[in-house]
Amino acid sequence: MMDAFSVAVLILLVAVAAGLDPSQCIAPLGMESGSIKDSDIAASSSFDNKNVGPQHGRMRMELNGGAWCPQTPATAELKEWLEIDFHTVHMITGSGTQGRFGNGQGAEFAEAYMLEYWRPSLSKWIRYRNHLGEEVIKGNINTYLESKSLLDPPIIANKVRFLPYSYHKRTVCMRVELYGCRWTDGIVSYSMPQGDKRGANWEFYDNAYDGHWDGEKLKHGLGQLTDGKVAPDDFKVPFYEQSVQGWVGWKNDTRENKPIEITFEFDRVREFTAVHIYCNNQFTKDVQVFSTATVLFSVGGKRYKGEPITFDYIEDRIFESPRNVSIKLHHRVGRFVKLQVQFAARWMLLSEVTFDSTVVNGNITEEEELPEETNLQKDQIATPGMDSKNIISAVNTPSGLGQYLGIVVGFLAVIIVLILVVVVFIYIQNRRYKSSPRPSQVPGGCDKAALYREPPDPEYAVPLQQPHTSRPPPNVQNFFPKAPPIPPPPERYYAATEICNTGFVPPPPPLSTPPPVRLSRQPRYVTSARTYIGP
Ligand SMILES: *[C@@H]1O[C@H](CO)[C@@H](O)[C@H](O)[C@H]1NC(C)=O
Ligand SMILES: *[C@@H]1O[C@H](CO)[C@@H](O)[C@H](O)[C@H]1NC(C)=O
Ligand SMILES: *[C@@H]1O[C@H](CO)[C@@H](O)[C@H](O)[C@H]1NC(C)=O
Repeated sequence: MMDAFSVAVLILLVAVAAGLDPSQCIAPLGMESGSIKDSDIAASSSFDNKNVGPQHGRMRMELNGGAWCPQTPATAELKEWLEIDFHTVHMITGSGTQGRFGNGQGAEFAEAYMLEYWRPSLSKWIRYRNHLGEEVIKGNINTYLESKSLLDPPIIANKVRFLPYSYHKRTVCMRVELYGCRWTDGIVSYSMPQGDKRGANWEFYDNAYDGHWDGEKLKHGLGQLTDGKVAPDDFKVPFYEQSVQGWVGWKNDTRENKPIEITFEFDRVREFTAVHIYCNNQFTKDVQVFSTATVLFSVGGKRYKGEPITFDYIEDRIFESPRNVSIKLHHRVGRFVKLQVQFAARWMLLSEVTFDSTVVNGNITEEEELPEETNLQKDQIATPGMDSKNIISAVNTPSGLGQYLGIVVGFLAVIIVLILVVVVFIYIQNRRYKSSPRPSQVPGGCDKAALYREPPDPEYAVPLQQPHTSRPPPNVQNFFPKAPPIPPPPERYYAATEICNTGFVPPPPPLSTPPPVRLSRQPRYVTSARTYIGP
């Protein structure tokens, strides 16, 4: 039972974690608390490793020298850095710095700094720029106060570097913290054609994209489609002060009616249940949700195997509000997902793409590289008796089914336990209820249960007549000298007087041997009431 509980709790946690909201992703990531280990903090150099090494660059800590101090002074050249390695991908929404207080002895702090970050899909360190394109982040004005900056757009990275910056040569020391959360979506990059310009006013480029732009295609980076923020309903409203729209958009004109292809790369092989695409639908301005979406899956990134999932969107030319279109992905497995979206109008604008997925455990990557050609549809992963030659399906079927079963079993177990608790509660309540006398029900404090004594056969239940309404039982012998032999109700059919306290005297039991009845004067006999109705 505990296992079922933990499964259910886990499901709840996963469900909570799946919807990553940047406004909730603000926790300190472990410099101050120590959850980032000393061995995961590195630096380009230190003035004195023991006293002011990178391990002392922790926010609000006063150990040894009391901060990290690089060997050379800060300049505009950015030679020195302090690096934090999270090992897994994190969404970082804020950064904070402090100077070296050193119990009042310190005098060094960084007035400005820059950030660089690294992700597996990026082959190099990327300099962080905010939505205004600025790289320099304001630092400290004294040795003790924290200077905290929001990072908009957020950084999605495994490793982050702080680079002290100064227009003039300046000796600096730093203590730092990063704020954010784990990146549960698992997307490490997406590749697609860069967006298009619309007239002179609107540029539907992916401005936040941090990968490579070869003039046409965007590669290896992340940007507006994964920044966790939706664009305003009206694409004409600038997202920021600049002409940045928040929408990435393409026009059909030069694309010969070909779909837009977006390839997502994930950190691990995952099993997908859904993709959600946030689309604009201002049809009066030539913008509409895609007409068809096709989704393909690959483990290695080269071959997209199995039947694609296709989804047709029924066009809506009534409501112009943007919408979150969800497509079920039927537990398909891969590390790469290719999304092809077909134009329904001249323009197509997207703001966010999120996936619901879970990591698949097992050694799948290696097996995918086997030179085996399979045409089996992975969509039918759960069908029994399928071709076991398809290694990917074979590897993932238990996991997929197991996951599904786990969820179902977990929820059923929780529901059963809840029902049991409710039943036990009602039973206890009922017992308490019954055991206490309820004078309001029966005059004279007589419990209803005491009025009837249930014989083994409920059909023979005998009502107890109230003293004022009960007539003395007729003298059977007088009325019907020849009554048929009637089985006498046993003694226990009668209420016990001591329960009722009404001074009621139960009627005497019927005669054990009633006289035989005369045929001409057959009495009517009501079984259920066991009373004689006079002829
Ligand atoms: C779209 O819907 C899904 C599921 O309800 C949700 O997880 C996702 O955050 C939504 N996306 C946007 C941009 O609202
Ligand atoms: C897209 O452009 C092609 C010509 O390149 C045209 O034939 C097609 O109708 C257009 N589609 C939409 C949805 O506007
Ligand atoms: C996966 O299996 C291959 C052999 O098939 C092995 O060489 C490799 O180390 C395994 N990888 C992992 C992560 O277990």
